[in-house]
Amino acid sequence: MKTLDGNSVVFGLQWGDEGKGKIVDYIAERADIVVRYCGGANAGHTVRIGGDKYSTHLLPVGVFRPGMMNLIGNGVVLEPAKLFEEIDGFIARGVSISPQNLRVSYKTHLVMPYHKLEDGARENSSQGGGIGTTRRGIGPSYADKMQRATAIRVADLVREDKLKQLIAKVVTERNKVLAALYGLPPLDWNAVFEEHREHGRRLKPFVDDVGHLLIAAHAAGKRIVFEGAHAALLDVDHGTYPYVTSSSCSALGLFTGAGVPPRLVSNYIGIMKAYSTRVGGGPFPTEQDNEIGSYIRERGNEYGTTTRRPRRCGWFDAVAVKYSADLCGATEITLTLLDVLGGLKDLRVCTAYKHNGAILDYFRADMDVLAEVEPVYETLPGWEDEISGAKSFNDLPLQARKYVERLEAIIGVKISMVSVGAERSQTLMR
Ligand code: IMP
Repeated sequence: MKTLDGNSVVFGLQWGDEGKGKIVDYIAERADIVVRYCGGANAGHTVRIGGDKYSTHLLPVGVFRPGMMNLIGNGVVLEPAKLFEEIDGFIARGVSISPQNLRVSYKTHLVMPYHKLEDGARENSSQGGGIGTTRRGIGPSYADKMQRATAIRVADLVREDKLKQLIAKVVTERNKVLAALYGLPPLDWNAVFEEHREHGRRLKPFVDDVGHLLIAAHAAGKRIVFEGAHAALLDVDHGTYPYVTSSSCSALGLFTGAGVPPRLVSNYIGIMKAYSTRVGGGPFPTEQDNEIGSYIRERGNEYGTTTRRPRRCGWFDAVAVKYSADLCGATEITLTLLDVLGGLKDLRVCTAYKHNGAILDYFRADMDVLAEVEPVYETLPGWEDEISGAKSFNDLPLQARKYVERLEAIIGVKISMVSVGAERSQTLMR
């Protein structure tokens, strides 16, 4: 990858699950620091190293590389119990995790037990099925962050007196709301406090000023990879609202979510898969709720890393991806999961939408419009061969290369890497 002088952000161009974990891991080989800047334990990033598979939800994937510093930025919402569960699980598998290689911003907000209760209860009681959240308390935690008076940050977790007062006040208040709206039994605020006091004691040595660390590291010539979670079309401002997550999870969120200025980042590496998937509710113009969708789901193992829900699958939507690439200023793209499409006779790519008889040639992040559009497809020939053993781009069948070149031409951004399998070695440079 020629453009990798300077710092990079890796982000999703679709609705998540594009295989960002593998690419962050790949790029981190030439970096010193990996930073998460958005989302929480609703994310799931998978890397395979040798024969071993590791899935992270909160930890940056740089924890698997010895000597790498990993940071959790203020844009993340952190559930301490989940973080420690993840840390303990990896330590048991021989991965070293300590303040030597992991720091958490004191500005990071917490996901508390009442956030998870509210998320689940709201989904259960929604007419029409709700948003289809991961029920990890993400939306309620970000709502408290914006609300301010009811928020709890990492800085509060490590100040026991303040934590006690905050938890007593917020849990007492939240019990009334959860009982009135959903008939839920009250939480014992003292038990919540005691659990979190222990989390605070354990977290204390990891707490740091992430923005300050990053600016100093950059000045010292260190190389940084910003690890995006979710994707541009799930961004709370720019995605398919309200069927989105609650963070700024396009590339644009990294500046506030890590606490660095835009000039620090030069490489904007968008990740897209060779088809489309989405989990949860919301419009999905190219969805194939048929045997094509099932074929893709089974070959691509399209089941959620966090919830194991089957993902909705469909054809590649170039209108949506061009929107994300333009929004985030993608300087290059990695195409993942190309091998999954092998064996399909014809492949379709959505190049425009039809709406009320007119052609829409650019994306509208408006669910009412998206629910009504009809995709306009271009058909390309598929390939029979199994391509996961390819060692270079030129090893790929002609039709596979033509497919990649056509996506690149429509989106207008160089596809610099193509991934044909989960292993580090199954990554082809162009
Ligand atoms: P939440 O983030 O749990 O609030 O869920 C909101 C929406 O975002 C739901 O449709 C989820 O399925 C979706 N979502 C959240 N995180 C991911 C992800 O990492 N991959 C794919 N979908 C996600």
